[in-house]
Amino acid sequence: MATIIDGVKLAAEVRERAAQAVKELQAEGVTPCLAVVLVGDDPASASYVRMKERDCAEVGIESRDHRLPAETTQKELDELIDALNSDEAIHGILVQMPLPAHLDAESVIARIAPAKDVDGFHPESLGRLVRGLDGFRACTPAGVMEMLRAYDIDPTGMNAVVIGRSTIVGKPMALLLLEANATVTVCHSRTRDLAAVCRGADLLVAAIGRPKMIDASYVKPGAVVIDVGINRTEEGMVGDVDFAAVEPIASAITPVPGGVGPMTRALLMVNTVAAARRATAG
Ligand code: GUN
Repeated sequence: MATIIDGVKLAAEVRERAAQAVKELQAEGVTPCLAVVLVGDDPASASYVRMKERDCAEVGIESRDHRLPAETTQKELDELIDALNSDEAIHGILVQMPLPAHLDAESVIARIAPAKDVDGFHPESLGRLVRGLDGFRACTPAGVMEMLRAYDIDPTGMNAVVIGRSTIVGKPMALLLLEANATVTVCHSRTRDLAAVCRGADLLVAAIGRPKMIDASYVKPGAVVIDVGINRTEEGMVGDVDFAAVEPIASAITPVPGGVGPMTRALLMVNTVAAARRATAG
């Protein structure tokens, strides 16, 4: 029987701490403000954006909604980013991904002022993470680290295996675990004998995007299993981990839904408050 890592409860605690920090900033006359940019009408993205804006309202962060049609040009989006960059009332800028295919996501991400990069996707934020400098960390891997801390799971000396090498999750996750003194292996679609590599993991992070792919044959008894997957299937939202098969042998595991997802959003609130605090401190 594994400990079920409760992302819903933990995220509520993180939001509560963020709300306290907002009150302190407001006492200094500053209300943290997040600009949320959504291009097109992808229903999943629209639903994420709604949830992020709801979180902002709960925490006391002002959110400014910018919904652009799917036909928005690169120039129009660039001009919006420039305007948000130079607006001092705005502390954080979030451009919901993925963007429609005709837009260049890399150039949009690089255009966001690093001081407002609350998603932690900007090359400067990632470079600072690589160098071990202060800066915005991507919300999903930062949320996972917060979960490990809250449950007293210290990665020091652990064999950590991260499945997935995306810039949003896999790569920053590996770097954060390395910073926390784990021995880190990053696996991906070309990894040979993935199950055998995963079975060597004391801490397994699945960020693959394949429903229930990780069954018991991938998991060492007693391992900590973190499921980053959000897959919409006929049976509803499921993770990358076959929870029913893995839970009996893991020491701790995150459910889907109710695991990493809420923590990702909570860390966005934390990053936005931090952006406002840094801007205020000058
Ligand atoms: N799309 C999927 N995850 C994310 C995220 O964390 N931030 C943004 N901006 N878009 C996403």
